[in-house]
Amino acid sequence: MNIFIGSKEECDLKGAQEIVNQIKNKPNTVLGLATGSTPIDMYGNLIKKYKAGEVSFAKVKTFNLDEYLGISRDHPCSYYNFMQENLFKHIDIPQDSVHLPNGEAADPEEECKNYEKLIEGSGGIDLQVLGIGHNGHIGFNEPGTPFGSVTQVVDLTESTINANSRFFDSPDQVPRQALSMGIKTIMQARRILLFAYGADKAEIIKEALKGPVTPEVPASVLQLHPDVSVFLDHEAASRL
Ligand code: PGA
Repeated sequence: MNIFIGSKEECDLKGAQEIVNQIKNKPNTVLGLATGSTPIDMYGNLIKKYKAGEVSFAKVKTFNLDEYLGISRDHPCSYYNFMQENLFKHIDIPQDSVHLPNGEAADPEEECKNYEKLIEGSGGIDLQVLGIGHNGHIGFNEPGTPFGSVTQVVDLTESTINANSRFFDSPDQVPRQALSMGIKTIMQARRILLFAYGADKAEIIKEALKGPVTPEVPASVLQLHPDVSVFLDHEAASRL
């Protein structure tokens, strides 16, 4: 595991550069992408690099980690909308190359199976971007999720609902379930970039990177992955 510690700006730039290098080496890269506050400025750097002519996403495919169950793509808080606003609409990626689980699928279980098949059919994820929840979740894999899990319907914990309520008008409006890649799906990515910023992530970063590998801290599974790069600002790294 490679751990880079710097300012948030340095992490956002270095992370974006890793992704650009990956796409230059393999123009038809399959990217796994994340939502949340953490990757927004890193995505901003990808947009800048695209506009500066440093990279093209024309052959890239993307698979997002997760989507809320029961809200439409057009909902302002859907992860589909988040990705459009923060990345996709600003770059040259074809719309049919971007994938998120469909939160409005008539049969969510079937949707999860199909999503997993779609990832496999694309050749698997070359590079997965991850943030980390305060409880150690990656994607929406909350503590206790088995390491063997694949894309599935998950229940969100109170802590996740409260953390995500800042994007909604009130906690009541946060969906209680989501469709999420499983831990195994994430671990099958060939490379993983994990980003964490701020003092409020310091304790969970210590547990995930230095503590025991346990489903109680889902991100601790990353200690078992052969190619993980972690980007931490000084605050998030302060307990290491
Ligand atoms: P955040 O969320 O980037 O908004 O802190 C991270 C996560 O919950 O995975």
